[in-house]
Amino acid sequence: MQQHILTLRIAYEQDVVLARQRAVVIADGLGFDRQDTSRIATAVSELARNAFRHAGGGSVRFAADHRHLLIEVNDQGPGFSRSPDAPPPPAGNPQSRGRGLTGVRRIMDLFELTTGRDGTRILVGKALPAGQNAPAPGLIQDLVRRLCQQHPQSPYEEIQRQNQELLTAMASLRQKQQELEQLNRELTDTNRGIVALSRELEEKADHLQQVNRLQAQFISHLSHEFRTPLNAILGLAQLLLDGADGELNHEQRKQLGYIHLAAKNLADMVNDLLDLARIEAGKMTLRVTPCSAGQLLSTLRGMLKPTLNEKQRQVELVVEDVSDDFPLLETDGGKLAQILRNLVSNALKFTERGEVRVRATYDRWLDQVSFQVVDTGIGIALEDRERIFEEYTQIDHRLQEQVKGTGLGLPLSRKLARALGGDLTVESTPGRGSCFTLHIPRRLQKLSDREAP
Ligand SMILES: Nc1ncnc2c1ncn2[C@@H]1O[C@H](COP(=O)(O)OP(=O)(O)OP(=O)(O)O)[C@@H](O)[C@H]1O
Ligand SMILES: [Mg+2]
Repeated sequence: MQQHILTLRIAYEQDVVLARQRAVVIADGLGFDRQDTSRIATAVSELARNAFRHAGGGSVRFAADHRHLLIEVNDQGPGFSRSPDAPPPPAGNPQSRGRGLTGVRRIMDLFELTTGRDGTRILVGKALPAGQNAPAPGLIQDLVRRLCQQHPQSPYEEIQRQNQELLTAMASLRQKQQELEQLNRELTDTNRGIVALSRELEEKADHLQQVNRLQAQFISHLSHEFRTPLNAILGLAQLLLDGADGELNHEQRKQLGYIHLAAKNLADMVNDLLDLARIEAGKMTLRVTPCSAGQLLSTLRGMLKPTLNEKQRQVELVVEDVSDDFPLLETDGGKLAQILRNLVSNALKFTERGEVRVRATYDRWLDQVSFQVVDTGIGIALEDRERIFEEYTQIDHRLQEQVKGTGLGLPLSRKLARALGGDLTVESTPGRGSCFTLHIPRRLQKLSDREAP
């Protein structure tokens, strides 16, 4: 149901101004915001001016239903045939009602046009502000009272007010434009940053590739440059020790022994370093061959027993025999021996009395082999148990000063264990001893039938 608010007659130019002023008061009274009020006033002013100019006058009626503020403009003029959607006719054409009406249609929510030889009726509407249903009758009465009390402003004042509205609108537009420009600038900067960042990343990737290449080159150079002279020193020292150049006196033999030992230590260290570098660079090759755990352990015993020095007379190296039905391993026997050598030599280094025991077990169910190196040595504190697998880590202890080492044995052993498809772990009780466990699959699958990581 419609509630009537006000009807105005348009007979003179001032009535157009009055209609606009009334539209502002009504829209404001119904709670429209500034922008919508301004749109409603513009529409009313446009329609009233049309009626005055093209039909010699008419009427403007304001009403409200439960959804819209409605404005109906009627005239008894000659009507017009153009659709308000058609392009505007040239300026000066008395029928030029198109442009204004198109604008009105755009800024209002409802637009109905009926035109004929005996007049035109245009109904426009604006949806009431959000959350507002039909305005309460009290509100309309109040509005009507306010409208009756208002004196019409002079056209001059109205133009001034409109000017101010225009200026405010322009200022807000300018601010919006500035905000947009600022946003644009920020976007351009961000874009530039992203481009620079991706270029930097590309450069870094190139650089890394180059470093990788250089590292691989370095490794192959080092292995040649270091190992060849070291092997020469070792070989020649051994020859002299064997008396190839005549008998040596006691002092010469002793000094040559030191040279040989130092060269041997250096060779071990260089080999560990090269192995680590090779693993890091993904250049390590595995040679899978059938090997017997029993043989591997007896070689280990033969190799390490003589290294027990004077002070370690109270330490016994026990290598348990493997059972007769222990299956053959298919793995890289060289790497496996290298890991066990490291573990046993550590155990011997850090055990003053008691024993170092090595045993191998086979888990048929998992088809997995475990090697354990158990000692009765100084043990490792809980907080150090993972650290010892990091390069160059050695734990402070009285014994540490008496033994040789660089802190590469365990990190290398763990990497080798993982390369063999297994792992290396430790359990320990400080002051009582440690137990290092290496477990690997009995059969190392070749790369081709190994699952991609
Ligand atoms: N069986 C063990 N008992 C007690 N401490 C150990 C034992 N094995 C290793 N550690 C500790 O872990 C450290 C690291 O061992 P790792 O084998 O990596 O180096 P290293 O034996 O000192 O030198 P390298 O093996 O390079 O000759 C040792 O220095 C020692 O402090
Ligand atoms: Mg070691």
